[in-house]
Amino acid sequence: MSKPVILTGLRANGEFHLGNYLGAILPMLQLQQRFAGEYRLNMFVPDLHSFTTPVEHAKLYLQIVQNLKMYVAAGLDLANDDTYIYRQSFVAAHSELAVILNNFTYYGELSRMTQFKEKGEQTKETSVTAGLFDYPVLMAADILLYGAEWVPVGEDQRQHIELARDIALRLNHRFGDDLLVVPAEWSQQLAFVGSGGGIRIRSLRNPDQKMSKSIDDPAGTILLSDSPEAAAKKIMGATTDSVGAIHYDMEKQPGIGNLLQILALLIGEPVAEVAGKWSGKTGYGDLKTAVASEVKVLLSGLHKRLDAVNEVELMRKLEASEYLMRDVAGQRLYKIQQAVGLRP
Ligand code: TYM
Repeated sequence: MSKPVILTGLRANGEFHLGNYLGAILPMLQLQQRFAGEYRLNMFVPDLHSFTTPVEHAKLYLQIVQNLKMYVAAGLDLANDDTYIYRQSFVAAHSELAVILNNFTYYGELSRMTQFKEKGEQTKETSVTAGLFDYPVLMAADILLYGAEWVPVGEDQRQHIELARDIALRLNHRFGDDLLVVPAEWSQQLAFVGSGGGIRIRSLRNPDQKMSKSIDDPAGTILLSDSPEAAAKKIMGATTDSVGAIHYDMEKQPGIGNLLQILALLIGEPVAEVAGKWSGKTGYGDLKTAVASEVKVLLSGLHKRLDAVNEVELMRKLEASEYLMRDVAGQRLYKIQQAVGLRP
């Protein structure tokens, strides 16, 4: 249990989209391949975080299972003994630690979180919940309970990782440096994860916004459950610009930049290289066709493998991981409870 830990989680409040895949799932798969045996890999479902955006409660549990199946269909190797999958609400220590950490986190810090501000603005003040406000503290608990130094996430989670770091440093300062493992700084996270680290895939319709499941933007978002043909159509209809020639310039040509980024990640080449190959070309349609073709390959492969996922094996791995994680997280929680004076 002393191996360094790589950890990430994806909420189950809806289906995964291409941004989730390229920003979190693919980097985790690549890290699993790169570091098998050297690192421990925790890929969990933060199910308690699902409620921070609207969710169909009657469908939530099925969605959780479906998302776990998607991890496997995407290529997560469950046979790897250093890989753990679990549901946050099945390991009670997450909630318990969040309650403690709430008292070491400031109102001002949480009010400055961009995600809170953005989501808060989209909803009426009366329906902004304490859960949405407090969500980064639960996320810090998710990370700190397992001593995770490395947390591959998209750019939208940057502030939350930095907050988890600040909370860890604060507790260590107060109670001793060996209490918590401090997650690595953002720039180190990016260097560790490589090409897909800290990215922001944009909406295909409105490339100034990120691709997201919570905005009302079906044509701008490719769901991993979309048929390959429907997804290709969305790519072909992507908003571009009137510049007339391809350049990788996210300021002036965010739509084109987004397509180049998606293409680069899907074919596994650095974006600078891919951008270099397309630079100056005038056929936006050709670029879209190339992206659409890669997206089709991705989705048809995912759907085929999703049908073949062995659910019995998946549940066996899930329950075994949760059993072990209760122990791992419970031990860390106990150390923290001792430090803050709740245990002898
Ligand atoms: P969530 O569920 O909103 O998103 C899951 C992951 O997908 C990434 N992502 C994107 N990446 C690139 N481009 C996009 N358009 C895009 N949209 C989403 C997110 O950055 C994330 O990595 N708070 C987290 C879940 C969480 C978590 C954790 C993550 C809870 N506890 C502990 C890491 C560690 C969230 O809401 O992600």
